[in-house]
Amino acid sequence: MKDNIVYLDNSATTKPHPDILKTFVQVNEQYYANPASIHEAGVTANTLLMRAREQVAQLLNTEAKEIIFTAGGTEANNMAIFGIARVSMHKGKHIITTQIEHPSVLEAVKRLEEEGFEVDYLRVDGNGVISLDELREKIRKDTILVSIMHVNNEMGAIQPIEQAATIIHENSRAMFHVDAVQSFGKLPVAFNGEAGPDIVSISGHKIHALKGSGVIALRKSFKMAPYIVGGGQEFGLRSGTVAVPQAVAFAKAARLAVESMDNTYQKYAAWQQDIYTFLKGFDHDIYLLSTKQSAPYITSFSVRGLKGEILINALQKQGVIVSTSSACSSKQTKTSHVVEALNIDPAFKKGVLRMSFGMQTTEADITAFKQAFAKVMKQLKGDLVK
Ligand SMILES: Cc1ncc(COP(=O)(O)O)c(C=O)c1O
Repeated sequence: MKDNIVYLDNSATTKPHPDILKTFVQVNEQYYANPASIHEAGVTANTLLMRAREQVAQLLNTEAKEIIFTAGGTEANNMAIFGIARVSMHKGKHIITTQIEHPSVLEAVKRLEEEGFEVDYLRVDGNGVISLDELREKIRKDTILVSIMHVNNEMGAIQPIEQAATIIHENSRAMFHVDAVQSFGKLPVAFNGEAGPDIVSISGHKIHALKGSGVIALRKSFKMAPYIVGGGQEFGLRSGTVAVPQAVAFAKAARLAVESMDNTYQKYAAWQQDIYTFLKGFDHDIYLLSTKQSAPYITSFSVRGLKGEILINALQKQGVIVSTSSACSSKQTKTSHVVEALNIDPAFKKGVLRMSFGMQTTEADITAFKQAFAKVMKQLKGDLVK
């Protein structure tokens, strides 16, 4: 990617932080031994791995033995869902999730539905938020798993995770899994004893670490079916030689993100407010999917009667990179399941754009976006269907 590009697609992926890249290369060069080997080099690699595990555990308020390194958020979500379903099916086969989860959750529960599990999908309101009353109605004694994302990747809605946890734990023996891929390092994410979630998924490449890195974290040692079987690495839950450089880089990225969280939050919130005000200037041609309650680092909006791809290409010509509602759905022609669930005016369904901030976003990028967008809207005005 060219250096002068304004990159506002950090929810799709982030540019690795230079210090994290340096760590990754260093560990690859010096500590490449297999951490399961018993020779000295293996023991040293294992010490690094254990330290990384300990650091991540501290950030999440759990113990090192509850941190399992994965190859990203998709794997962590699959592992949580299949791992819990397979060990708990003798207690019940009822699962609850939401209509707006990431495909790595939705496709996993769909697979379980085909195998005879029963799945309820919670609806969301116009702000993309679930109803706790609906959760209370749907939860049953035989519910074994509830999976609710913390922040939605397409429009930034924040779900009431703590209140949901209380309802789940008071009314069932279900495990509560939270996909925190879009929230970790940007909003507080940590275990809170019995009061919070039981399992959390995190992805490295959303916090300026490497693609192909992530974590599934447990509140305590729950029984889970292994996801990948083989040599029994990662406490028997995820076999395969552990990628120590990815794990060490992940731990560093997690620490950097959490340490800078308060500052980044304030900065992003101010930029998002600025963008909202700017977009309101376009009056009835723009519909904001993100709201005042959304996470400040994701701003999603739609332009009446225009296609998202046209807007993206026009902005790209101005040197600004944004995306349609999500990277996963951007190559599909049908409207995303999240946009459908929001039940918005059909005239706004096709023109959804998402801009998302990261640690490297600057004030100048926000200004560049506004200038480029104003220019593009002028150019495309003839194409607008009123
Ligand atoms: C909410 C959410 N969950 C899960 C994932 C999958 O993470 P990964 O790309 O690390 O597999 C993503 C990626 O976009 C996401 O946004």
